[in-house]
Amino acid sequence: MEKKSVPTRGRTLDYAAFVYDFLEPILLLGKQAEYDRQIVSLLGLHKTDRILDLGCGTGVLTRMIADQLDAESGGVSIGIDAAARMIQVARKKREDQTCRFEVAAAEDLPYDDGAFDAVVSSLFFHHLDLDLKAKALGEAWRVLRPQGKLVIADMHTPTTWMGALVSHVSRWFFMQPQIGENIRGVLPALIQNAGFEPPENVCTYFGYITVFLSRKSPKAE
Ligand SMILES: C[S@@+](CC[C@H](N)C(=O)[O-])C[C@H]1O[C@@H](n2cnc3c(N)ncnc32)[C@H](O)[C@@H]1O
Repeated sequence: MEKKSVPTRGRTLDYAAFVYDFLEPILLLGKQAEYDRQIVSLLGLHKTDRILDLGCGTGVLTRMIADQLDAESGGVSIGIDAAARMIQVARKKREDQTCRFEVAAAEDLPYDDGAFDAVVSSLFFHHLDLDLKAKALGEAWRVLRPQGKLVIADMHTPTTWMGALVSHVSRWFFMQPQIGENIRGVLPALIQNAGFEPPENVCTYFGYITVFLSRKSPKAE
């Protein structure tokens, strides 16, 4: 039996789980593979790495990461999502020692301190209210080893008129104030306030998705 979705104020996508894989390539204008490869390349993976993918959806990125790891050497790619149906779809595609999926909320992770070498997320933080964004980043900090990498690709301040149009239409069409927060550019400060180094703005996709790279720095006592 599948575990139930976990309670969260995050916008979960149980209702979209069975169509998500048809919709996402359209939303990413046919560049999903290039976009995912860019995120994976920033991780600079070793086959022994332990990687956590927050808000993994149907697990496309989690699987691409797992392809470069080796369970016998300790490597594992774990995708978590609060929506049980997303996890159900992800598990049908692949689940083994190197690639695992769990139903869990990013703001309350069921993992030990320092358990991961890197935490990654794609198009997830615009599903969270401001306080949950901060909590999820705090949890990412906690489960990362010192100097562990954080890679976040998400909606941010638009850089083109087309990006601005897509962002603002999405914010109002989906009635999602959490997107409005991303458009206002809250992510870099939240990342830093959670105890990470100032994030590097690596690249932008479609004028509205920015890829951030940072590392866990020791929190000041
Ligand atoms: C737009 S999807 C992104 C999926 C995938 N990362 C991708 O790039 O295709 C956002 C996902 O975040 C999940 N989600 C929302 N709130 C969550 C939370 N608090 N904890 C974990 N996952 C959550 C949703 O269920 C959804 O699957």
